[in-house]
Parts: sequence; structure tokens; C-alpha cells
Amino acid sequence: MASFIGEFFRNPAVVGSLVPSSPELTAQVMAPIDFGRAGCIVEYGPGTGVFTEALLQRRRPETRIVLIEVNRRFCQLLQERYAAHVGVHIIHGSADRTAEYLQALGLTAADYVVCGLPFSSLPRRLGWRVLAHTREVLLPAGRLILFQYSERNRRLFERFFRLEGHEHVLLNLPPAHVFTYAPAAEAPAV
Ligand SMILES: C[S@@+](CC[C@H](N)C(=O)[O-])C[C@H]1O[C@@H](n2cnc3c(N)ncnc32)[C@H](O)[C@@H]1O
Repeated sequence: MASFIGEFFRNPAVVGSLVPSSPELTAQVMAPIDFGRAGCIVEYGPGTGVFTEALLQRRRPETRIVLIEVNRRFCQLLQERYAAHVGVHIIHGSADRTAEYLQALGLTAADYVVCGLPFSSLPRRLGWRVLAHTREVLLPAGRLILFQYSERNRRLFERFFRLEGHEHVLLNLPPAHVFTYAPAAEAPAV
């Protein structure tokens, strides 16, 4: 918690929230994932690892988990906590380079992408690239599970993805929307 607040004040636009997500929000983000069939789950912006912890508790031992975090301190913390876990890959980098990171790990596609990037405060071009890359790396039956504090960027998300589910979680600071998206039949290029 203390490291999260510190990082927020260092870089509010990138960190996007003052505190980590609540257990209630975590449960809603995990709900659409079929852990029985997931071979590869990618998480964008794990921060201090609240969703990571839930993913690790639920995954099959062979499911690969790829964590992509741009913040160096969060990345160090994730390394200390999860580097020894088999099949967990911690990448210090940006979500708009996912395809490249997966390739380097010998992975070609993802079953699920879990994302809490603060699209409202990130540069629009970066958000666009993240979504275009996600659309490329997701399997046709794959799903993007995205949480946001507002519905503001839905039109952007829905250029690339088709909405399948939407939950509003009040027990989070601030309350959050969880969107479950399937890849759209057609999408704009990167
Ligand atoms: C709102 S926080 C969510 C943290 C955590 N998932 C949670 O729910 O508590 C957003 C996270 O996204 C990370 N982030 C922002 N831009 C990113 C990017 N381009 N690539 C990867 N991570 C990014 C931030 O450093 C931060 O950890």
C-alpha cells in the first residue's frame, strides 16, 4: 500500500490510482477467466500484484503468466515476490510491445489479457497501440478483461473489441467498471 501511494505521487498519470484494487474488484476481474483452458494469461500493469496473486492461486501449474509493468519499482517488487514461481515471467516494459515480449518467451498468443491501465490519463496514441497489439496477440476465443474508473474510453475499446460483459463494482476506491471483451471481427491497424 505504501509503495503504491508513493508511486502514485511520483507519476499519477501512469499509475492511475492512489491505492491497489480491492478484493471485490479482483473477484470480478477473475470471474470471466476459464482457468481450466487458459494456457497463457498476460497481465498489463500488475502494480503491487493484487490480480497476480489471484491468478497464481487459480491457475493450473502449466499456465504461463506474463506480467508487463512499466514502473521500475513495481517491477522490482514483483521480481522479489514472483521470480521463483515456475511459468511466471516479469517484464519491465510497456504493454504496447506485448507481441515482441511474447515472441521472446516462445509464446505466440494469449488466452486472456487482464488490464487495468489508466487509459484516461495515458497518451491516446499509446492507448491505441496497446489495444491494437492486444487484438493481435489474443486468440480468437481469447478475452480482454479490462477495468476502468469510468466508461469514457468505451468507444475506443470497441473499435478493437466486442463487449461481452460489464460489471460495476462499487466496493473499490474509486468504484470501477469491469469490461469483458472478445476480439472484434475487424479492427484498425496499429
Ligand atoms: C491503476 S494501476 C493498477 C495496478 C494493479 N493492477 C491494481 O489493480 O491494483 C495501473 C498500473 O499500470 C501500470 N502501467 C501504466 N502504463 C503502463 C504501460 N504502458 N505498460 C505497462 N504497465 C503500465 C502502472 O505502472 C500501474 O502499475
